[in-house]
Amino acid sequence: MGLIGVMGALGLLLLGAMGADDPLILRDDAGHLHIQSGAAGTVLVQHVDVLAMLERLDAQVGDLEARTPQARARVQNSSAWTVSSIGGTLASAFDARFEDLDGDGRRDIVVVSFWARAIVWYRSLGAGAFQGPLTIAGDLSHGPRKLAVADFDQDGRPDVVATSEEGGSLTWYRNEGGNPALSFSPRAIVRNVLGSYAVQVADVDEDGWLDVVCGFRGVGHVAWFRNAGNGTISQTPHVISNAFDTSYVLAVVDLNQDGHVDVLFPGENDATEVLFGDGTGNFTAQPFNAVPTGIHALAVSDINHDGRPDVAVASFAANLTVWYAQVSSGDLWAPHELPGTLYGPRALAIGDLDKDGAMDLVVGAYIENRVVWYRNLGQGTFEDPIELLNNTSSVRCVLVDDMDGDGDLDVLAASYSGQVLGLALNPLRP
Ligand SMILES: *[C@@H]1O[C@H](CO)[C@@H](O)[C@H](O)[C@H]1NC(C)=O
Ligand SMILES: *[C@@H]1O[C@H](CO)[C@@H](O)[C@H](O)[C@H]1NC(C)=O
Ligand SMILES: *[C@@H]1O[C@H](CO)[C@@H](O)[C@H](O)[C@H]1NC(C)=O
Ligand SMILES: *[C@@H]1O[C@H](CO)[C@@H](O)[C@H](O)[C@H]1NC(C)=O
Ligand SMILES: *[C@@H]1O[C@H](CO)[C@@H](O)[C@H](O)[C@H]1NC(C)=O
Ligand SMILES: *[C@@H]1O[C@H](CO)[C@@H](O)[C@H](O)[C@H]1NC(C)=O
Repeated sequence: MGLIGVMGALGLLLLGAMGADDPLILRDDAGHLHIQSGAAGTVLVQHVDVLAMLERLDAQVGDLEARTPQARARVQNSSAWTVSSIGGTLASAFDARFEDLDGDGRRDIVVVSFWARAIVWYRSLGAGAFQGPLTIAGDLSHGPRKLAVADFDQDGRPDVVATSEEGGSLTWYRNEGGNPALSFSPRAIVRNVLGSYAVQVADVDEDGWLDVVCGFRGVGHVAWFRNAGNGTISQTPHVISNAFDTSYVLAVVDLNQDGHVDVLFPGENDATEVLFGDGTGNFTAQPFNAVPTGIHALAVSDINHDGRPDVAVASFAANLTVWYAQVSSGDLWAPHELPGTLYGPRALAIGDLDKDGAMDLVVGAYIENRVVWYRNLGQGTFEDPIELLNNTSSVRCVLVDDMDGDGDLDVLAASYSGQVLGLALNPLRP
């Protein structure tokens, strides 16, 4: 270090050393000064972290730019979205998540493939490019259904948990790291409990470790499994409901804002309940509204911007997407149907796609093979949908997230047949 060299022949003034990871300051022929931070990663000028400052500035400028009429027109023009597909040869995606599995700072796509009997991931290469499928678990005895991603042992590496309805299993896959190939080791939580289906992760007993909540369609149980620490997930179910036999989906989230997670699972009867948690693992049931039958998708967010979480559901059987405004703390919900008719809505996600401060709904229509965007005009008023993807055969899952790292929210659709993963990149931030 401290090496100051004059590279006369190249006309470069070099301050620093020559190792690939070393910082570098040089002047080029045009007289420009180049500063590279090398492995240090941070460039301080007069004690100010200029890279972080530029990043913040870029985000602010981008947010301002996103509010211009031009940007608004662009984002509402479905032809301005960039559509592509990811997936290689993978068949029949059933569920997907978006998390940084390999710790490179870019989030990756994790997918369960029912017919391939595999759990796979697609490594993000940045800018909306993905490489895969890479195996997390292959040659499973039965097709996996649903998954969640969470760091169960707090080793900094996200792990994966998945259900198999036919196999009656609930298994988590410990992320063992590895470069470039990640390896995962399976740990069974449950075997042979028929109909293991929906799975979510939350710290149910508030001991600092993430627990697993699972809905079993066969036995009808909703049960949580305690993480005793370091990923020691108990095989003893804490059954909190016996009414999951007609349900497909559950939300595990603090609905009434008392600081404890609650559980909601719409079923095919007039007696859908919310289970309000007390933070110790015990729950009290309260009635929820009657809901349409055949709800496969559920999302929770503050849709009308009143400070309370609301609930949106997509009913495949009734061709209805409905959201329920939480009117008072947990015990009164006002239903609102979304306009227009979508055939077979089976996937649902919430996010502010146009950065206008209102939470939008993205819905995947299984029968119509398309994914649409319901723009929230504010306070939960929606206009007719804008089509984002029109070739997602039998869509089972949609994700709304920043898939290309440019600061706006994109849409990923996982399909049960045909091309497997469709990606629509948001043109809000050009
Ligand atoms: C919509 O976007 C497409 C593709 O960028 C463009 O050609 C077209 O002019 C846009 N339409 C409108 C109404 O802005
Ligand atoms: C987790 O593992 C670490 C390291 O092996 C150990 O120090 C710690 O006590 C463990 N914590 C629990 C809750 O088991
Ligand atoms: C939770 O419920 C169980 C079984 O009813 C009971 O034994 C336990 O005391 C309860 N826990 C708390 C903290 O209330
Ligand atoms: C939903 O739409 C499908 C496809 O058009 C139709 O077959 C089905 O009967 C509809 N369901 C209801 C409840 O209208
Ligand atoms: C489907 O979307 C593409 C753009 O992604 C568009 O070019 C095409 O016209 C659309 N097809 C139909 C039938 O709407
Ligand atoms: C959908 O069509 C677009 C072209 O309009 C194509 O690039 C993409 O691969 C297709 N996606 C799927 C999921 O089939």
